[in-house]
Amino acid sequence: MNFIDLCISSSTQKLKFIQFVLPLKRMDKQRYILVTGGAGYIGSHTVVELTRAGYTPVIADDFRNANRIVVDGLEKLIESTPIIHEVDVCDANHMRDLFEKYAFTGIIHFAAYKAVGESVMDPLKYYHNNIQGLVNVIELALEFSVHNFVFSSSCTVYGEPEGLKVVNEDSPKSKPNSPYGHTKAIGEQILMDVFKSDPEMKIMNLRYFNPVGAHPTGLIGEFPIGKPNNLLPFVTQTGIGKQAELTVFGNDYPTVDGTCVRDYIHVVDLAKAHVKAIHFLSEQADGLIEAVNIGTGNGTSILEVINLFEKIANQSLNWKFGPRRPGDVIEIYADASKANRLLNWQAEYSISDAIEHAWNWEKMIKNYE
Ligand code: WQD
Repeated sequence: MNFIDLCISSSTQKLKFIQFVLPLKRMDKQRYILVTGGAGYIGSHTVVELTRAGYTPVIADDFRNANRIVVDGLEKLIESTPIIHEVDVCDANHMRDLFEKYAFTGIIHFAAYKAVGESVMDPLKYYHNNIQGLVNVIELALEFSVHNFVFSSSCTVYGEPEGLKVVNEDSPKSKPNSPYGHTKAIGEQILMDVFKSDPEMKIMNLRYFNPVGAHPTGLIGEFPIGKPNNLLPFVTQTGIGKQAELTVFGNDYPTVDGTCVRDYIHVVDLAKAHVKAIHFLSEQADGLIEAVNIGTGNGTSILEVINLFEKIANQSLNWKFGPRRPGDVIEIYADASKANRLLNWQAEYSISDAIEHAWNWEKMIKNYE
């Protein structure tokens, strides 16, 4: 006679036991990961990869920088209904409700504004949201003893690399070139101070280079609200006719062709790096704090992006040169060897794959306003 039979005799009671207890047991097995900004561009791709890796992502997003079309794509990709709570990370009380509801085993904090150019024009929007949001989430992580914390940081913390175009995590950092970059540098400083005060925390600052592309299935991708700030979505929107013409900001930089050079990292590769980071932190017995570059290690100029797009889309792009954009770094790309060594991660997609997937996504959402 097994344990269940021992506890209860009638089949009805047995059914109740199974219906009530086993799910709770299953819930105990859930590895809930709080994903703030999880309905956004990088967040949504990370939700897919977390689910595929057996985690249960809980999205906290107020959709200020996300389009609800993402929910349909997520449902198809994860083959279930994503757990989504519409909440502003700056609303500490509402965020606390989530920590009371779920036993989070980790946190990935994406929720932040991220456009370099826009941050120069509207700095306080960036300081309020990016700093207050982080402080709220890390305070709750400490209160509820959620020790595994991945922070969405950025290569903009390096500022303008002195001479060095390829940077590693220990490269000298000059002052960030934009308020956006300052919010990420301040965020890393906050986390360092938190770690010093609570060495049980296990913190990983993922310094993204330039996230680009879309999911290869065409089910989710970047959905800029209004006019895109970033290069590739502006290129694809110009290609599809949503924008009349791309302006290339500056052609007199000391680079291969006079235009700025960046390390464009496919968003799916970037999402996978987050899963590797959460897994790495959960495996560590002791507290730690680490910064890790997430990039391809290759630099691509704006003109090279345009030429690749024209080849992939088999059409010419309408573009012109314009003045430099304040806040732009001239040339920067990643030494990603630490990500490979620590997380066993490296980029698998190329810039051409990213442009192809971004263009495919642009065509998928052509009629969606
Ligand atoms: C790239 C280049 C522009 C638009 C991004 C993210 C930021 C961070 C770092 C993650 C620049 C030029 C752009 C246009 C152009 N990533 N450009 N015409 O500024 O490197 O920052 O990567 O945290 O979140 O924003 O990316 O795509 O805005 O610009 O010429 O219409 O393309 O001047 O040289 P950036 P970007």
